[in-house]
This record gives sequence, structure tokens and C-alpha cells, in this order.
Amino acid sequence: MVEDTYVLGHSKQELRRLMLQAENLRPITMRLLREAGLAPGMRVVDLGCGVGDVALLAAEIVGPTGTVIAIDRNPTAIIAARARANAAGHANIEFVEGNASEVARSGTCDLAIGRYVLVHQSDPVALIRAAATHVRPGGAIAFHEVFLMGTWWSYPSVPLWQQTSDLINKTFGSVVTHPDAGARMIEHFHNAGLPLPSLFSETPVGGGPNSPLYPWAAETFRTLLPRAEDVGLVKPGEIDIDSLEDRLRQAVTAVHGQIGFAHQHCGWAKV
Ligand SMILES: C[S@@+](CC[C@H](N)C(=O)[O-])C[C@H]1O[C@@H](n2cnc3c(N)ncnc32)[C@H](O)[C@@H]1O
Repeated sequence: MVEDTYVLGHSKQELRRLMLQAENLRPITMRLLREAGLAPGMRVVDLGCGVGDVALLAAEIVGPTGTVIAIDRNPTAIIAARARANAAGHANIEFVEGNASEVARSGTCDLAIGRYVLVHQSDPVALIRAAATHVRPGGAIAFHEVFLMGTWWSYPSVPLWQQTSDLINKTFGSVVTHPDAGARMIEHFHNAGLPLPSLFSETPVGGGPNSPLYPWAAETFRTLLPRAEDVGLVKPGEIDIDSLEDRLRQAVTAVHGQIGFAHQHCGWAKV
């Protein structure tokens, strides 16, 4: 069986990358939380909270009369998340260290949410089932997942952008257990015994000199580079990772290019 530990680790660099990513994902996750019905005063559980970005978003919505439970099995992530919650003045986020598929389920939450977690599970259906056990009848479960397959587009074609995306997705494909989990929510929800989820997808797009997509792609690949070298996708020293962000910016702006990033798939269902 594939071990569903979080393959990217929790180095300081990776925790920073997660925060950069979170800024860009914020409006998409916010849309999901709202569509799934999250409102002031509610109780919500965040499965695989990482450094806490979704928990912080949820805390903003539920306000001081609501509660957020944030679960992660990595103690380094929990420490970082707790510090950020304290700094932001959110006293209503409770952090729990443990496997989100196993920790005690109260059945009292109005919503269970997980972002970028199904792709990392040995059994995504098990996590979806576990999510449902946290929720009261009539509550909802919701997942925001990244599609880690294929090549990101660029028009006019920017070969460096496409090569970088191929390397990112091929490397993820060598370490992530379910890179297509976001595109299989209907199947996974069905196998978990849950109703057909409501779905939407968004693709971050950009271009020009100041797009956040260049640092997001370059920092993602920086995190993956040791693994890409290990599995032989690139030779050691072949990629100048420190200049990648600027090289992407130059390559895209030189052709007045418009680029797409990884598709973001979101799904939710009432339990
Ligand atoms: C890619 S990070 C995403 C973090 C956060 N949800 C976000 O979107 O910023 C995945 C996180 O899920 C945690 N994780 C993955 N599977 C888990 C599980 N079964 N139980 C608890 N935590 C899990 C990992 O430790 C990691 O911190």
C-alpha cells in the first residue's frame, strides 16, 4: 500500500510556498465555502489544515460566534498554523494533531472542508467518508483540489512555461497518490455513499510582468526539484532554479503571452 504521508515535507521554504499559494487560492476557496453554505456562527472542520490558510478563511466567515477545528497530522504544520491563528487574533480555532481519516468525529459540524488533500491520500474515498462523519445531518462536505495532470497552456506558445508545467506534473505524478482526484469527485463521492457533488472549476490565468503565476510555478518546482532529480526527470544541476521565476517572466512577456496555471476543481455535497 502507498503510504499517504505528505510528500512535500514541511521545511521553512515549503511552509512559505504554501502561504504564497494560499494568497492565489483564497478567492476560489472562498467561493467554495460560500456555495457550501458556510455562514456566521457555524462550526467547521478543516481536514489537512497545513499552515492554516483554509482554517483562517473559515474563521473569518464564521466569526467570533463560530468555531473552526483544524486537523493535520504534521506537528510542524500545526505549530505554524497555531502561531498564525494567534497572530490574526482568532481565538476560535482549535488545532488537533492526527490523521483526519481517524480522529474522533463528533457529527456536530455544519461543514467539513479539505483543500489539496485528496491528491495525497492512499484512499481518497476513506477521507471523504471520514469528512461526512464530522458533519451533522443536513451539513455539507467540500473539497478544493488541484489537477496535477497534463500541460498548462500558453498563447502564444511559451515553451518554457509548458516544459516547467510538464516537469511539475510529472514530478507530482511520481510522488502523489491521486493526481486526478479533483477530476474524480463524482466517482469518489459515489464510492463514499454520498450524493452527487455540485462542482465548479477555476483556472488561474495571467501574463505581463507582475503575474504571481511566475513565483508560484518557480517555487513549486523548487520544492519538487530534488525529487525530479532523484527520479531522473532532470539531471543534477541542469535547472537554474534561482533564475526560473525571471526566465518565466521574460519568456511570457517577450511574446505578450497569456498563461494558464493548474485547474482548480471544487466540489461539495450535503450529507
Ligand atoms: C498540500 S497541504 C495543504 C494544506 C492546506 N489544506 C492548504 O490548502 O493550504 C496538505 C496537508 O494535508 C496534511 N494531510 C494530508 N493527509 C492527511 C491526513 N490523512 N490527515 C491529516 N493531515 C493530512 C499534510 O500534512 C499537509 O499539511
